[in-house]
Amino acid sequence: MAKLGIGVLGVGEMGKRHAENLRRLVPEARLVAIADVAADRARHIAAELEIEQSFGSLPEMLACKDIQAVLISTPDKFHAEAIRAAAVAGKDILCEKPLALNLPDAHAALAAVARAGVRLQIGFMRHYDPAYVAAMKRIEAGEIGEPVIFKSIGRDKDVPPLAAYPSGVNGMLFYNNTIHDFDLARWLMRDEISEVHAYTTVAIRPEVAEYSDVVASVVNLKYGRGAIGNIESYVQAVYAYDVRTEVLGSKGSVFIGSVAQTATAFLHASGRVQPLADHFLTRFADAYLAEVRDFVHNMLYDKPPLVTGEDGLKALAIAVAAENSHLQGRAREVTLQAAGEQIATHAH
Ligand SMILES: NC(=O)c1ccc[n+]([C@@H]2O[C@H](COP(=O)([O-])OP(=O)(O)OC[C@H]3O[C@@H](n4cnc5c(N)ncnc54)[C@H](O)[C@@H]3O)[C@@H](O)[C@H]2O)c1
Repeated sequence: MAKLGIGVLGVGEMGKRHAENLRRLVPEARLVAIADVAADRARHIAAELEIEQSFGSLPEMLACKDIQAVLISTPDKFHAEAIRAAAVAGKDILCEKPLALNLPDAHAALAAVARAGVRLQIGFMRHYDPAYVAAMKRIEAGEIGEPVIFKSIGRDKDVPPLAAYPSGVNGMLFYNNTIHDFDLARWLMRDEISEVHAYTTVAIRPEVAEYSDVVASVVNLKYGRGAIGNIESYVQAVYAYDVRTEVLGSKGSVFIGSVAQTATAFLHASGRVQPLADHFLTRFADAYLAEVRDFVHNMLYDKPPLVTGEDGLKALAIAVAAENSHLQGRAREVTLQAAGEQIATHAH
């Protein structure tokens, strides 16, 4: 069987899962190497997965001749530069979201990909989640008629430790969390967002304001063809990892997600339904696996990726407009070009 040689860059919580999936559950992949600035961690995970090569940097890994593709799972700030370097080395790329933390970096990364003639997929794995896929099929079949309202909720269960903020290696809420919903808002509605108005709060954790971040937001959306939408994000739901989306149309509604981890409901004297989804790695376990399987297959058989760099750019442009709206206190147009409009600073 033909196999795609692949290297994983950044093996923290997310990258480790991708590496495990590639090593154990994707027969068409050969996990060749792991790289991480924490070289000891890379070595340790390589040993755990019984692969021979581990590196402390991307350039060292890119020198491996058996690698045809790279999966990038570093913190957000390093995505654009890693994409550029991998493209220059002629590798196909699967990069975690977001594509970049600002539009100039995003354009530079996409230009490098285009120049090198390699392919780039962005890790919007909800395109592979069975519930979202089933909903999209119904929308595409016209079962809810013309989509009119998009609503989405993304609530993390546990707030990140305060110590994670000062490093500034991940984008603020819109870039790190809401970006999934910005992507869904385009994908499920099959339309582009023209304008956003963001409302934010630092209530319960005013300290995050110092790092230009927020703990919760609601973002109202206007679409090019006249539809509207609303997205809520929150970092501290406490009770569960709660991700839900609804698309309402002229003939009905399609509703994705529930707080329950499985379709089985256990009703108890306490009134609780168990088990609840508690983490993205469990809620989206199927999606992460389907994502790397599909990427590997498509690269091997010279097919285009399902979620493109262009999708990454368009979701990022919505996040930039939302951050500018949050900073300026008014609605902002979504634009793909930075051109003086982009006042947002993007890191915390
Ligand atoms: N698609 C999703 O649902 C999803 C979920 C979680 C995280 N993510 C994304 O995945 C990425 C990683 O998140 P995480 O939670 O695993 O973070 P993490 O902090 O747990 O891990 C990051 C890893 O990257 C390493 N690293 C840091 N800088 C590096 C560099 N310049 N080069 C190489 N390695 C470097 C760190 O040592 C660490 O091992 C982030 O961009 C995040 O937004 C996506």
